[in-house]
Amino acid sequence: MIRIDSVTKRHGTVVAVDDVTLEIGRGLTAIIGPNGAGKSTLLSAVGRLIQATEGTITVDGRDVHTTGSREIARRLAILRQDNHLAIRLSVEDLVAYGRFPHGGSGRTAVDRERVEYAIGLLDLGAVRDRFLDELSGGQRQRAFVAMAMAQDTDHLLLDEPLNNLDPRHAVSLMKLLRRECAERDITIVVVMHDINVAAQFADDIVAMRDGRVVHHGAVADVITEPRLAALYETAVRVVEVDGRRVVLWE
Ligand SMILES: Nc1ncnc2c1ncn2[C@@H]1O[C@H](COP(=O)(O)OP(=O)(O)OP(=O)(O)O)[C@@H](O)[C@H]1O
Ligand SMILES: [Mg+2]
Repeated sequence: MIRIDSVTKRHGTVVAVDDVTLEIGRGLTAIIGPNGAGKSTLLSAVGRLIQATEGTITVDGRDVHTTGSREIARRLAILRQDNHLAIRLSVEDLVAYGRFPHGGSGRTAVDRERVEYAIGLLDLGAVRDRFLDELSGGQRQRAFVAMAMAQDTDHLLLDEPLNNLDPRHAVSLMKLLRRECAERDITIVVVMHDINVAAQFADDIVAMRDGRVVHHGAVADVITEPRLAALYETAVRVVEVDGRRVVLWE
C-alpha cells in the first residue's frame, strides 16, 4: 500500500505537484495526464528520487524519507522516465544491479535465478552480453524494466515503460505486469500516455493535471468522453469494442 498524504513539490515558483493525497493499493494503477501534469514528479517522490517539499509518503506504513534506503529498496523499485548511465554496462550486469538491495553481491543462487527470470521475461536473452549503448531504444528500455523486475519488490513504479517498445513488446509487458499483480498480489503503478493500453490493462486510473489528481477510479469512471476531453483539452470519442473502452482522438 502506497499512501501519499498532502504532498506538494515546488521547484522555485513552479508547483509540480500540488497538495496530492492518494492511496494506491494492490493491482495495476495507471497514471495518465498531459505533459507537465506532475506524473513523474509524484512517482519520483514516492520512489524517493526526490524529496517532497511538503507532506508524507509511506510504503507499507514506512515513511520513504526516514526509512533506510536499502529497506525501502527491498519493498519498492522504480523505473525513471529517462535513464542515462555514465558507465558502460552489459545488459546482464545492469539487470544484476537490481539485486543489490538484497545483499550486494548479485551472485547468490537466488540472485542468479531472479536475473535469469527477468532477462527471460523481457525477451533479452539474445542481447544479454551486449553493452547498453549497443542496443536499440526499445531493447535498452526493456533492459531497464528487467532491472526493476529483478529487484523483486511488492511495489513497482514504472514511468512510461512503453517508450520505444513495438506493439508486441508493449502488450507483452502489460500482460506480464498483469500476471505479476495476479500471481504475487503486488502493487504496480505505471505512468503512460497510451490511454487505450491503460484502459485495457489497468485496474484503476489516476488522472493528473496541473499538479493535482483530478480523477481516481475504475477505468469505466475515468475513461469517459467528458473527462478525457477536459483532461487533455482535446476532442475525443470513447467507443466500446468487445466490452472494452476504446479512445479515438478527433
Ligand atoms: N527540476 C525541475 N525544475 C523546475 N521545474 C521542474 C523540474 N522538474 C519538473 N519541473 C516542472 O514540473 C512540472 C511537472 O513535471 P513532470 O516531469 O512531473 O511532468 P509529467 O506529468 O511527468 O510530464 P510528461 O508527460 O511530459 O513526462 C512541469 O511543469 C515541469 O516543467
Ligand atoms: Mg513524466
